[in-house]
Amino acid sequence: MPTFLLNQTEIRTDAPAGSSLVDFLRNHRRLYGTKIGCREGDCGACTVLVGAPVAGRMRYQTMASCLTPLGNVAGKHVVTIEGLNQDKLSFIQAAFVEMNGTQCGFCTPGFILSVYGFCLGGGPPTLAEATQAVAGNICRCTGYASIKRALQSIVDRIQPMDPADPLPWLVDQQFLPAYFRDIPGRMAALPAVSRPDTGYPIAGGTDLLIQDFEGAQDADPVRLLWGVEARAGITVAGGRCIVGSACTITQI
Ligand code: FES
Ligand code: FES
Repeated sequence: MPTFLLNQTEIRTDAPAGSSLVDFLRNHRRLYGTKIGCREGDCGACTVLVGAPVAGRMRYQTMASCLTPLGNVAGKHVVTIEGLNQDKLSFIQAAFVEMNGTQCGFCTPGFILSVYGFCLGGGPPTLAEATQAVAGNICRCTGYASIKRALQSIVDRIQPMDPADPLPWLVDQQFLPAYFRDIPGRMAALPAVSRPDTGYPIAGGTDLLIQDFEGAQDADPVRLLWGVEARAGITVAGGRCIVGSACTITQI
């Protein structure tokens, strides 16, 4: 039974581990801010943040929820656009509005989550990095110049942030809601993730959730391969570089 934090709420669900995260968000939780554009990982409309503790700090990365098996977020913190709500727009959200970076709004939640992923990611706070962070997000109506202007104003604003530990600054500056401060403690209380040794094998889901969507969704048990430490690392030993089968392109 996947157990995880979804925004501020602890989720325990018996929804299938091989079903897609976006369907869970929209159909089970009615979180319609996460959009479906292509269902193939190409448009970025379904982007969410997925966080886990690494060396005592929460680390977040963006994921296309249409290609993410629900089981892969067990033991994680999933953040949707609704999880960023505060009394007023954050600087990031306001920058998109002020620079006309949103029109119909269909792509906007995905863009906003990708920009949050950039701010939380610990990389250099430059326009080039910010632009790269939204490279997987497609907008059909705004035109990218206005989105780039929004990115520039965000990059200017986050210069005082410590990229090695961005979360406290982002909460203090009300980029993120205050509940993010409690997430590390709440993560520690989640049950250990159960990983059956047999069953339908699935890793990142980037092929299977397109080519065998129903097979993955109906599978029971599901053998979750992503996130297993031994498969995630890159090591160099004895003149060889060994790339774990669950490494991401970003890690490589
Ligand atoms: Fe297009 Fe997920 S719906 S990337
Ligand atoms: Fe309409 Fe981007 S604002 S698709």
